[in-house]
Amino acid sequence: MSTVIEFKDVSKRYGDNIVIPNFNLAIEKGEFVTIIGSSGCGKTTILKMINGLYEPSEGEIFVNGENIRYKDMIELRRSIGYAIQGSILFPHMNVSQNISYVPRLLNKKNVEKTEQAVNKWMDIVGLDHSLRYRFPDELSGGQQQRVGIARALAASPDILLMDEPFGAVDAITRAQLQEELKLIHKKTDITIFFVTHDIEEALKLGTKVLVMNHGEIEQYETPKDILNNPASDFVMKMVEKQRRSCNLPDDRLDDCEFSGASCGLLD
Ligand SMILES: Nc1ncnc2c1ncn2[C@@H]1O[C@H](COP(=O)(O)OP(=O)(O)OP(=O)(O)O)[C@@H](O)[C@H]1O
Ligand SMILES: [Mg+2]
Repeated sequence: MSTVIEFKDVSKRYGDNIVIPNFNLAIEKGEFVTIIGSSGCGKTTILKMINGLYEPSEGEIFVNGENIRYKDMIELRRSIGYAIQGSILFPHMNVSQNISYVPRLLNKKNVEKTEQAVNKWMDIVGLDHSLRYRFPDELSGGQQQRVGIARALAASPDILLMDEPFGAVDAITRAQLQEELKLIHKKTDITIFFVTHDIEEALKLGTKVLVMNHGEIEQYETPKDILNNPASDFVMKMVEKQRRSCNLPDDRLDDCEFSGASCGLLD
């Protein structure tokens, strides 16, 4: 396994406000990292430092072994997909043009190939082809969200950063998108960094879960370890509710293997 993203002694200050005191983390290629922590603990800040939207106050970040401080930002962002809650679609482009934005940049001559790619991604994220020529303001919030995810994926990124991407969709759509994303991750060697407020989503999707508190790492482990060996009171409190929802009597909670049979996690 090779390291794809590495933070070395990274700190981030906004004025006098130290949001990230000292952050060290190495992420292996192909991991699906879910990030969870209380509001304002620095999750979005961490994400935005990876694609250079924010610069660390101190320390270095390496992407594929290269220090991003010295990298061309446009080139960096081309290899990193970014999907956030709400719509960041180009308002003057229709669905097809939004999804194919990066493939068209890279693949100018082969229009047919680009069209095929748009169809493929619309199918994968569950968008009806009849929406192809609609503009973002003619779509529902959930449809816009799917277009955003399709656009991020259509660029075939090595790394996909997702900041609460399923926040604005209903429970059924959310479950579908979770399954689709899990499948995409299984089929490719993409590395995913996924911020969520939902502990169940974090445990279900992540191959590793990063628990953050006040800009620091409480634990970075597999979902199973987070559940069975919480590293701190903070993590323990966070998973307690989840553990209790798995329908085992209290005196048997320690036996819970979270195999999927009892609580639906880790299937
Ligand atoms: N551009 C900015 N200027 C000043 N302060 C900022 C800026 N961006 C974030 N902050 C502050 O840094 C802290 C961390 O913010 P961040 O957005 O990273 O948190 P978060 O964990 O993503 O929160 P949430 O779960 O609410 O999205 C917060 O206290 C926030 O107010
Ligand atoms: Mg955030």
